[in-house]
Amino acid sequence: MSRARLRSGGLTAAAFLFVVALASAPLRAAPVLPAASPANALRHVTVLSRQIGPRPAGQPAYLAAVEYMEGQLRAMGYEVERQPFSILYFEARAAVLRVGGPEGVELRPTILQYSAATSGAGVEGTLAAAGLGRADEVARANLSGKIALIQRGELTFREKVEAAAAAGALAAIIYNNRPGTVPAATLAAPSRIPAVLITEDAGEQLLAQVRQGAVRVFLRVETVTEQRPTWNVVGRRAGRDARTIVIGAHLDSVEVSPGANDNASGIAAALEAARLLAEIPLPLSVEIIGFGAEELGLYGSAHYARVRGTRVAGMVNMDMVGRGALVIGSSSSDGRLVEVGGRAAARLGLSVGRFRLGQSDHVSFERAGIPTLFIHTGDDPAIHTPGDTVDRLEPQKMADAARLAAAAALDAGEVLR
Ligand code: BES
Ligand code: ZN
Repeated sequence: MSRARLRSGGLTAAAFLFVVALASAPLRAAPVLPAASPANALRHVTVLSRQIGPRPAGQPAYLAAVEYMEGQLRAMGYEVERQPFSILYFEARAAVLRVGGPEGVELRPTILQYSAATSGAGVEGTLAAAGLGRADEVARANLSGKIALIQRGELTFREKVEAAAAAGALAAIIYNNRPGTVPAATLAAPSRIPAVLITEDAGEQLLAQVRQGAVRVFLRVETVTEQRPTWNVVGRRAGRDARTIVIGAHLDSVEVSPGANDNASGIAAALEAARLLAEIPLPLSVEIIGFGAEELGLYGSAHYARVRGTRVAGMVNMDMVGRGALVIGSSSSDGRLVEVGGRAAARLGLSVGRFRLGQSDHVSFERAGIPTLFIHTGDDPAIHTPGDTVDRLEPQKMADAARLAAAAALDAGEVLR
């Protein structure tokens, strides 16, 4: 072999390396994402919403959802951690209200969230009407040792029940001020005395009886109020930079709903984003998170932001991404990650609207000063009802959300510059 040939061979190799270096530089900046699978997303939602079903914080079904998500993340090569925190668990078990003492006419009242239970077999007392529960009305009603009858309206349930408890009432019965039921009636925090809701009709009948003379009522309320452990599921994959971009969704549901759209859809999209990001070089580290106890008040994300927030560069939240039209936004004035998401969507050929609302886990990160991108497909009339089922979902929407979240995670380094 001649020197000339050798040299030309050497030159060819150098040129080859140069071309490879040039070609891989843009590749490294923007790795190509694999396609997202609507079938995978549908499979995740089916397991969570149909096989497992309602998975409220503090109940065994939530742990089944945790185990499912952990298994999926581990199988994709993520380093998985179960992050514990504690919640105030409440469960309304049963309530009986009898008018005319323990053997009287029976009503089926609704227990207010965080109501105290009656001690022992129940309480019996004379009913005393206290208007709307304002201070002057409560003072005039002589509630000590009696059961208070209060109309809904003007004050919060908590204010009414607290006023009755402070005046020595044994329990509070609140009646509606319009026909129908009261959605999500809550005391917001544990009460000192049992508190239930009855219909407007039932309340007005009781009020009429009270005006005619003494009415004895018997009330039994069974509730559970206690601290219980729950968990965030965190799957981590290290990138070139230790700073972390979170892709999260809440893993819990409300008690009465299979939570297919709210929010098995978000978990399905997060797991699919995890798969898209599992094999490619990552600029920033990525954490795929299933948040606990969102439905009780964003507890899991608040806990995570408190203990881990300082190393988080940005947070992508997906809540209700299973049906409707893709929209992106954030609830804070920091729109940097939303801009990243908008450019990623344009590159992927996804049409996205903009919006600004939604109480979900991104808010916990915004409170910690972290830029967020909330991906969503619009409100749903079946939210928090037994009707939020998997058959109503459009799997392609979850695949689109997954691809957008993964693309935004790859580009999120831009918010640090
Ligand atoms: N998925 C909802 C939030 C939501 C609803 C976002 C509609 C966008 C459109 C979430 O699970 C939820 O129910 N949040 C609560 C507030 C939270 C602090 C308990 C809500 O919106 O009432
Ligand atoms: Zn919800």
